[in-house]
Amino acid sequence: MTDKTATLNVGDDSDQFPVLDGSVGPEVIDIRKLYGETGKFTYDPGFTSTAACKSAITYIDGEQGILLHRGYPIDQLAENSSFMEVAYLLLNGELPKKAELDNFSYTISRHTMLHEQLATFYRGFRRDAHPMAIMIGVVGALSAFYHDSTDITDPEQRMIASHRLIAKMPTIAAMAYKYSIGQPFMYPENKLSYTGNFLRMTFGVPAEPYEVNPIIENAMRRIFILHADHEQNASTSTVRLASSSGANPFACIAAGIACLWGPAHGGANEAALNMLREIGDVKRIPEYIARAKDKDDPFRLMGFGHRVYKNFDPRAKVMKATADEVLKELNISDPVLDVAKELEHIALNDEYFIEKKLYPNVDFYSGVILNAIGFPTDMFTALFALARTTGWVAQWNEMIADPDQKIGRPRQLYVGATQRDYVPVDKR
Ligand code: CMC
Repeated sequence: MTDKTATLNVGDDSDQFPVLDGSVGPEVIDIRKLYGETGKFTYDPGFTSTAACKSAITYIDGEQGILLHRGYPIDQLAENSSFMEVAYLLLNGELPKKAELDNFSYTISRHTMLHEQLATFYRGFRRDAHPMAIMIGVVGALSAFYHDSTDITDPEQRMIASHRLIAKMPTIAAMAYKYSIGQPFMYPENKLSYTGNFLRMTFGVPAEPYEVNPIIENAMRRIFILHADHEQNASTSTVRLASSSGANPFACIAAGIACLWGPAHGGANEAALNMLREIGDVKRIPEYIARAKDKDDPFRLMGFGHRVYKNFDPRAKVMKATADEVLKELNISDPVLDVAKELEHIALNDEYFIEKKLYPNVDFYSGVILNAIGFPTDMFTALFALARTTGWVAQWNEMIADPDQKIGRPRQLYVGATQRDYVPVDKR
């Protein structure tokens, strides 16, 4: 805490509030006592100016386009580390030593299988169910299968639940895909890497051996790392809010998945590729740019803009380079990548986008890569959920251990009818 205070003057009343300092980033006015001392609330739809928690996991400087996980820049992690290292880092605060990493990777690999009865659960869904609908259902249902890790007051159970969620998510997502195309579910193969195992469960079949392509494995590793955590975004805040009531971790992560699904959040990767396909030709870009700028048209450039980044999203830079690399190495020429690059170029030079500081975000190029790898569009957000589970789980653990944590209970500015008497139906 600094010695600084903030003064709030309302009419003749004047009140002082402490100003808190983080390790880096804007100062924060501590208004926890605002209502108690003044009888007033603050009004901040969308939490644009409100810090709802303290956190030591991820830091974003939106003006500079910086993203740090536990202090490490995202591009360094995406370049050098394995997904297991990043998961360990997010959960524990430090990069693991070799023995710690081996131990963590082994533990995760021991939790990759699903209770066999969950396969029956899948069969209750329609074959054309969206994978995100299946993910919400199956992850929520884990609470009905793993009773020995739902007591959130027990740190050991919390850690087992965390490991289970990180380990089972690739199996759950791959099974959602297999179910949609009518192929048999593939059991995990624990000697493979986290991403290699996921690729095999998704694209392998029991009838023949599956060779993991190292180019694709590396691209998936990067994509998973780029999506692993992102501070107090909508789905992470949803996980925190759900868990603030003491709900079990599987239910809370299912809530996070539900929130992620929306096109303003994780669903943007699917929407972005659909948009690029719809544009189809660089000649049609000006038409779509004009629509994005038209106040009377609800259309937005999907994969563009961000609440926090007012500069390049550092994840988008790595994603763009990865898209180039993957398509080149797989020898794929996709006109959608050309449309994406030209759209980015035109938008970044357009007054509207410059003035509003709208840049490509993580979702703009990811679809091009996932499409090249062979994922159908509706799996894109499920992959985001898979990778983000690590961040959700880290944030969930941090929150439960935080003595300041309380049940989340926002207040409101009431604008409805004031008290009035009931009128019988024949008198209305
Ligand atoms: N295309 C055209 N105009 C835009 C766009 C866009 N993609 N994004 C924002 N704007 C305009 C918006 O119309 C508004 O203009 P005005 O001030 O004249 O009303 C201004 O920019 C500010 O937008 P906002 O909606 O108030 O900003 P926000 O912080 O509430 O929304 C956002 C952020 C990400 C929801 C928004 O930029 C958006 O809808 N982008 C498209 C969806 C998308 O790509 N989402 C993925 C986000 S990154 C990954 C993730 O978090 O999951």
